[in-house]
Amino acid sequence: MNVGTPHHKYPPLPSLRSLGLSDPSETLKKLSGDRLPKMGKFRFQLFADWITEHFKPCRVADIGGGKGLLSYFLRKNGFDPVVIDPVYQELPEKIRDVHTREIYRFKSENKIKHICAPFDKDLIECNLAASFDLFIALHAHGCNLNILLLCKKFSKQFAILPCCVIDEPEVPPQGMHWIKWLGEYAMDQEIDFSYFKLNFKGQSIGLCSA
Ligand SMILES: C[S@@+](CC[C@H](N)C(=O)[O-])C[C@H]1O[C@@H](n2cnc3c(N)ncnc32)[C@H](O)[C@@H]1O
Repeated sequence: MNVGTPHHKYPPLPSLRSLGLSDPSETLKKLSGDRLPKMGKFRFQLFADWITEHFKPCRVADIGGGKGLLSYFLRKNGFDPVVIDPVYQELPEKIRDVHTREIYRFKSENKIKHICAPFDKDLIECNLAASFDLFIALHAHGCNLNILLLCKKFSKQFAILPCCVIDEPEVPPQGMHWIKWLGEYAMDQEIDFSYFKLNFKGQSIGLCSA
């Protein structure tokens, strides 16, 4: 037995340069993740800001949107979002704004539209694509490959920021990082996309329609 050798090791994250990206702390004016406490909590607002900079206000399907925080910020920025998630969750009681650093308390009228169903083949076949212009997913489980395929089939825009391969219909070969594999999968499917990188701790590399 090989004592001391781990049984399983995640493949290393591809370098930003190999994905054609630069380090956002060098190029973005936003606060660096290193300087903000609990930076992962700000991912909703940082992603909403990034979407607002890159897409015109439109109808958005927020797949695996959980509590609806990403949708909340997008709605504030003029988008019309709907969370699609089999688990219904209320918005949290309060959040801290990444720009003002002030605490905001949600009121009952802050409710986000929610389709309480899994994003799967059944839902996709219900003419889902006709209702939305942009499909987004922040750390959603098991939805990323289907989002890419739906957006290719119906010429829809997308911006996905996947965390892991949980529940995906296909997985990368051993030793290959999921994000790199997802890009190769998109290329194989002839999907026109770019990588992007946000400035928070945790999995913060995504793919968006070019
Ligand atoms: C890690 S959580 C991310 C939630 C939220 N987007 C966030 O960043 O905090 C994964 C979410 O995916 C949802 N989910 C799992 N399977 C799904 C499916 N088939 N369709 C849509 N959402 C799904 C879960 O209910 C959960 O809310």
